[in-house]
Amino acid sequence: MAMKEQLAKIKEEALAAIQETSAAGNLDAVRVKYLGKKGELTAVLKQMGKLPAEERPAIGQIANEVRAALTDAIAAQNKVLADAALNAKLAAETVDVTIPGKKTDLGHKHPITIVIDEMKDIFTGMGFQVAEGPEIELAAYNFTRLNTEEGHPGREWTDTFYITEGKDDPKNDAVLLRSQTSPMQIRVMEAQKPPIRIIAPGRVYRKDEADAAHSPMFHQIEGMVVDKGVTMADLKGTLNEVVKSLYGEEAQTRFRPHHFPFTEPSCEVDVQCFACKGKGCPVCKGEGWIEVLGAGMIHPKVLEGCGIDTDIYSGWAFGMGVERLAMMRFGINNLKLCFENDVRFLEQF
Ligand code: PHE
Repeated sequence: MAMKEQLAKIKEEALAAIQETSAAGNLDAVRVKYLGKKGELTAVLKQMGKLPAEERPAIGQIANEVRAALTDAIAAQNKVLADAALNAKLAAETVDVTIPGKKTDLGHKHPITIVIDEMKDIFTGMGFQVAEGPEIELAAYNFTRLNTEEGHPGREWTDTFYITEGKDDPKNDAVLLRSQTSPMQIRVMEAQKPPIRIIAPGRVYRKDEADAAHSPMFHQIEGMVVDKGVTMADLKGTLNEVVKSLYGEEAQTRFRPHHFPFTEPSCEVDVQCFACKGKGCPVCKGEGWIEVLGAGMIHPKVLEGCGIDTDIYSGWAFGMGVERLAMMRFGINNLKLCFENDVRFLEQF
């Protein structure tokens, strides 16, 4: 075969072989087969020397054109293969953003915490500050300075958890678990000058047998205002507002006279039963009303014991039971549920 035809054949075969390659490795093999040192084109060119001198330039030109055509074709196919490989890789690595994510179970607030947080919101909105104090308390703060002298039934070891033996200590430094949040009245008045507006939520402890309505540990929120010209009307107005914020505009309150050693006059506040609207039902034990807190004008002896001049200042205080509010709010019928930590119960809030 004449060299010209040989070159044409090599070109045709090589271009076809390049087109058919489907991977970079194959393409390189084709390149070596035709353009390599021992390749077919090279082999033809090596025979150039045998040609008559006048034919060499023309054949040389054709050979160069074939080499250029194959080199271009290889470069073009290389790009086609690289693009295809990239697309395949992208397709394989596609992230389906519509696949639903894996859900992690988040914890949430305990019903008692929900009510405490809500009360904090309501009271801070009215300009109160939130105070905190110790659950392990001195008898002086829990009782004596709250005008609750020796001999008061609340001071008996049968009612209160004493940590030290010193309950009869005349210096009043017996250590106990606070039975109410009221010692916070003393602690705040010791630390702050009037005007004072605080609430103090926290745990309290009493020697009560646990049942549907009692627990040896429960929560109270203490509230206190000390300022010039503070009256029982302010107490009533504030508590009515709070009850309406909690239970709606129609919520009704009832203030009944009562006795606490550290307030005078004192009262208890009932909220009309949310379940029967005052008619009487099992929730309110037929009463139509549910007691939610104790309150009153802070006793002058208590104010003076904290160095507050009762000719200038007066104040009121209240203490509300958080569990009672939470049970009314969420329709919980047994106090024990609040403390048993059964997730089937807790998940409902
Ligand atoms: N500390 C009282 C109780 O636990 C409630 C109370 C607080 C009453 C403040 C009057 C003023 O029963």
